Amino acid sequence: GIEACIFDLDGVIVDTAIYHYKAWKRLANELGADFTETQNEKLKGISRVRSLELILEWGGISKTADEQAVLATRKNDWYVDMINRMTPDEILPGARELLESIRAAGIKTALGSASKNAAVILEKVGLLPLFDVLVDGNSVSSSKPDPEVFLKGAAALHAAPAKCIVFEDAIAGIEAAKAGGMKVVGVGEQAVLQGADLVVGSLEEINIQTLQQL
Ligand code: G6P
Ligand code: MG
Repeated sequence: GIEACIFDLDGVIVDTAIYHYKAWKRLANELGADFTETQNEKLKGISRVRSLELILEWGGISKTADEQAVLATRKNDWYVDMINRMTPDEILPGARELLESIRAAGIKTALGSASKNAAVILEKVGLLPLFDVLVDGNSVSSSKPDPEVFLKGAAALHAAPAKCIVFEDAIAGIEAAKAGGMKVVGVGEQAVLQGADLVVGSLEEINIQTLQQL
């Protein structure tokens, strides 16, 4: 049976992708660069530092390491302003119900996110109590598509990777789960999330039975 379910945060549990997008776009535009939704898609699941590097690269802009640190902080300050105003209304459809039914079935839950703001977000939307373990951007050294974040979650829950199910909205995250030998449910569009064992438009479409059949 399933030993653990590991959830990505941004785009799976809550729609913070829009806040990341707004903050990066504001920064890119201030630097005189463009920032499209297609580019934003490539940043999903990617760490803050790496995201900035890519935005600078796309804009043909070069900045020193010190300047990059200032810019990343600036983006994060805007982002934190937005997430500090989040409420439970922003939980994506089906997320709370699925987490509750997984726990009711005796299966452990972990968060596996690249975000350093993960705990604040879960606290704001009231979902912190539904996670047994949080593995986030503060506790990993390699980011997705490296499987570290998910393997750490599995290890903390004493779960075998092959008996873990990961929920992801990002291509990098699906690759990470697969690299870790886990099953993965993609949340989003089939055309974007090829490689997932199952793709759903939202977590409302799945229940424990669906997961047990994976
Ligand atoms: C998630 C998001 C990314 C974000 C990353 C780091 O993976 O999908 O867009 O860049 O977390 O988030 P942070 O809150 O630490 O800047
Ligand atoms: Mg995500």
